[in-house]
Amino acid sequence: MAVAGRTVLDVLRLSTVYLGEHGSGTPRLDAELLCAHALGLQRMDVYLQFDRPLRDGELDVIRELVRRRGRGEPVAYLTGVREFYGRSFAVDPAVLIPRPETETLVEVVLRHLRAGPDGGRGARVADLGTGSGCIAVSLAAEMPGLRVVATDVSAAALVVAQRNAERHGVSERISFVQGSWGEALEGALDMVVSNPPYVTTDELAHADRDVRDFEPHVALLAG
Ligand SMILES: C[S@@+](CC[C@H](N)C(=O)[O-])C[C@H]1O[C@@H](n2cnc3c(N)ncnc32)[C@H](O)[C@@H]1O
Repeated sequence: MAVAGRTVLDVLRLSTVYLGEHGSGTPRLDAELLCAHALGLQRMDVYLQFDRPLRDGELDVIRELVRRRGRGEPVAYLTGVREFYGRSFAVDPAVLIPRPETETLVEVVLRHLRAGPDGGRGARVADLGTGSGCIAVSLAAEMPGLRVVATDVSAAALVVAQRNAERHGVSERISFVQGSWGEALEGALDMVVSNPPYVTTDELAHADRDVRDFEPHVALLAG
C-alpha cells in the first residue's frame, strides 16, 4: 500500500480496498476498527479526524495491522477486544472470539434465573468451557449476588477469563477451575450453562480461514 503523506480518510479508503481484495467480508468496518485501534481512538472518533495527516509511525502501525487482517487474522485478535452483551472483553488467540448468537444464551439464562427464588440473586451457576469468560462475566455483571463457577480445560483461556472478570468487577463472585467440563465441580448448582465446541473436522476444514487458521481448535472441534 502506498500511503505516504496521507490523511486518515485516505488511509481508510486504501485499507478498505486492500481488505476487500484480500478476503474480508467487512472491509470498511475492519479498516475503521484497525485505524481506531492504531490511533488509540474510539471507532466513531475516527470520523472526526478524517482530515488529519498521519505520521510515519502511525502509518507503519496501520499498514502492519491491515496486512495481518488481509492474511485472515481476525480483527478482535489484532485489537485485543470484542464487545459482548454491552461490555468490552479482552481476547487473545487462546480463546474463541465471543459470538453475537451467544448473547441469546445469556438472555435465556438470565430470564430463567430471574423467574426463580430471590430473582436469582442467591443462585449458583456453572459455565462449562468458559473461554474468554464472556458468559460467566456477563451473568455475574447483570445479576448482583449471583455466584458462578467457570471451568475450562485450557489454562491460557482461564487467564483471559480471569482478566475479564477483574475488568468488569465480578472476580469475587466467579471461581475459575481448570478441568474437563464438570469433573472438578463441587457443591450444589442451580443451573449449568455451556457453549461447547460443536464443529466436525470436516466442517472446520471448510470453514472461513479466519476461524480455521486463527481460532483455537480446542474451542471449535467437538471431541
Ligand atoms: C465454543 S468455546 C466457548 C467459549 C465461551 N464460552 C464462549 O461462548 O465464547 C468452547 C470452550 O470449551 C473449552 N473446552 C474444550 N474442551 C473442554 C473440556 N474437555 N473441558 C472444559 N472445557 C473445554 C474450550 O477451551 C473453549 O474455551
